[in-house]
Amino acid sequence: MSNDSISRRFNRSIIRIVIGLLLLFSVSVVIYGVKKMNLQLNNKMNYALKLAQTSLPRALWNMDTKSVDEILSALFLDMDVVYLSLSVEGEITYEKVRQGFGESNFAFFQSSSDFLWAEDRILHRNKEIGNVRIVLSKDSFKSELNNQLMAVIVMALILIGVITVRSMTISRKLIFHPLAGLERSASSIAGGNLDAQIICEGDDEIGKLGRSFNTMRESVKKLVTDLNSVNEELEQRVEMRTAELLKSTEELKRAKEEAETSGRYKTALNELSDILHSGNEIQEMAGNLSRYIAEFLKLPLIGFFVKTSGKSFSRAADFGYYKKEGLPDSFEFGSGMIGQVAKERKPIMLKDIPEYARISFGFGEVSPRVIYIYPLVYDDQTIAVLELGNFNDFSETELEWIKEAAKNVTLALQTILSISELKEIMQLEWDESYDVGISEFNAQHKRLIIYVNSLFDAINQKENDQAIGAVLNGLTEYTKTHFAAEENLMEKYGYPDYESHKEEHNTLASEVIEIYNRFDSGEKINLATLLIFLVNWLKEHIKKTDKRYGPYLNRKGIT
Ligand SMILES: [Fe+2]
Ligand SMILES: [Fe+2]
Repeated sequence: MSNDSISRRFNRSIIRIVIGLLLLFSVSVVIYGVKKMNLQLNNKMNYALKLAQTSLPRALWNMDTKSVDEILSALFLDMDVVYLSLSVEGEITYEKVRQGFGESNFAFFQSSSDFLWAEDRILHRNKEIGNVRIVLSKDSFKSELNNQLMAVIVMALILIGVITVRSMTISRKLIFHPLAGLERSASSIAGGNLDAQIICEGDDEIGKLGRSFNTMRESVKKLVTDLNSVNEELEQRVEMRTAELLKSTEELKRAKEEAETSGRYKTALNELSDILHSGNEIQEMAGNLSRYIAEFLKLPLIGFFVKTSGKSFSRAADFGYYKKEGLPDSFEFGSGMIGQVAKERKPIMLKDIPEYARISFGFGEVSPRVIYIYPLVYDDQTIAVLELGNFNDFSETELEWIKEAAKNVTLALQTILSISELKEIMQLEWDESYDVGISEFNAQHKRLIIYVNSLFDAINQKENDQAIGAVLNGLTEYTKTHFAAEENLMEKYGYPDYESHKEEHNTLASEVIEIYNRFDSGEKINLATLLIFLVNWLKEHIKKTDKRYGPYLNRKGIT
């Protein structure tokens, strides 16, 4: 493809056409000139021959040499005649050669194309009396022809110049400039500038093309605007969908993490529960517990203070403590942070760490950044205080776990405390002080005491829930059987305190049944406390309430 502009190609085409036409015209002029020259030469030759044939016969016949010379000289006056000769009876009697042609003879002129020659007989009364030869030079005609040709060439060149300049001016003004403007505007539009206005003057094809371009530009602009709008909307939708997707993914990830965390924390609670049931001694349990919590929550410091006799809280176990001289082992109720939390029964998060709370490492000691002090409250009484030191803030999940773990620890600790308390009061054996005067009921009371002792053994020996549940169920069922037997007899013999006695039975039965149901459904309950309650109730009820029906029924003949 040519890189030339339309303007150059158009002008070259115009110049070629004009040159072609002028060459054609010039050739025509030359051909016409040559023909005209030949015609004129032939006419001149004919005229000279005619003149010779008309004038010479008489003079020649009369042997008038002078006239012959005059006639022939007259003919030679014509400057185009370059050779003239007269022959009589084969002898050349007259011969003239134009100056400048030297010694040329007739044969020379015959052989050259620059000359026109002719010879003819001179007749007198139809008898040949001589022969005339005339040679005409073509030079003057050629010179005229050349002049004409030069004029034509000059005219042609002038015409070429004028036509070229004019065509270039017109084509530039009417075609190329508007086309260049169109091209610039179209390039600008193609480059993205849809506001590039195409200037279209005139009502010709280019003007119409420019207006069509403008219309097309407007349409494209509208299309692009619409497209941008659609694109923008699409982008917004994509962004929105992406954000939603990201949110869902995040939520899913969070839910998964929460589920995993929840599972991990749940497992830790179960493991902690096993640790809590692994021993009967407070020191042992506190040590195991401190170590487990420190490892699970990655805590550098743990202290476990348990309520002792009186109102002080003694350190039962610790983890990571810096054991320096003068470090207090116990806190009075309401004294120090431990005693204060025990008194207020509310956890506290400390960020100004006391000097004593240093953590001992092989390389030295550092202070934790945060200390969380958590009271273990049972039955509105603080029975222990947990002290947890951390290098970082506790997360919500960790705090929640500590809260749940604390419930289990409280229960386990209370069980140990109750058992140790029980050990002191649990020497439950039937003796005469339990004798109600009715043998059947004495036997049932003995059996109830056996059930209570079995429950104590199960709890003390850390039997599993299934075994403890079986004993508790047996105790509950037998209690109901015994109460029914007593109530039947009292009612049968019109025992006056029957109603109040029955009321006491109902209260105990409903409490025991409720506790059993809670235990059966998996709830963690303090069995030791239940046991203490049962022992105390049994002792009180048999020795006071049951004993009152003995004399009345004895009088009715029942023993
Ligand atoms: Fe009883
Ligand atoms: Fe009773």
